[in-house]
Amino acid sequence: MKKLNGKIKHNIAVFISGRGSNLKSIINYSSKRRTLYRVKVVISNKQKAAGLLIAKKKGIKSYYIDLTKSKKLGNKVLNILNKNNIKLVCLAGFMKILPKYFIKLYKGKIINIHPSLLPKYKGLNTHKRVIENNEKYTGCTVHYVNNFLDSGKIIFQRKVKITQKDNKRSVEKKVLKIEHKIYPKTIDKVLSNL
Ligand code: GRF
Repeated sequence: MKKLNGKIKHNIAVFISGRGSNLKSIINYSSKRRTLYRVKVVISNKQKAAGLLIAKKKGIKSYYIDLTKSKKLGNKVLNILNKNNIKLVCLAGFMKILPKYFIKLYKGKIINIHPSLLPKYKGLNTHKRVIENNEKYTGCTVHYVNNFLDSGKIIFQRKVKITQKDNKRSVEKKVLKIEHKIYPKTIDKVLSNL
């Protein structure tokens, strides 16, 4: 925790694997508004994740850690989180299943954003499946992370209407726009309840 502009801010970590557009929206939101948090570290399990560059440009400590190799690397992550006094871990396009011991250690302190109206369409290729099933609505969900894929308690979700003209790409665009709005705000809500 650190005092910024006279306000107490909690440190959060964002875990990514790729583009990092949610990461960007979280950083921008927290630097422009009166939020309860600031992004202290960014961890990517992919070396070439574009999100790492976003973090660097904003002067945020960022790490590439190949989590597939050994448990030692998991310990490296834990050390980073401890050292930086991280209160909440936010997964944003993080494409790796976290180990059980990690989830247990950070119980109630890891959240994720998923591009569907959970519990519908867990897992990958959500928009493709939504279109194939002729859904009238889709959306996105922020949820706690537990040991099962996209199955933790739902914190917040928002619906998006699908029209006749929509395809996989347009739906992805619409949903992503909403993700960028709801995730930064929901992080504040979660922190206010911790
Ligand atoms: C988002 O659609 C998010 O919901 C999903 O992966 C995508 C990540 O996009 N988990 P980005 O890396 O934040 O741009």
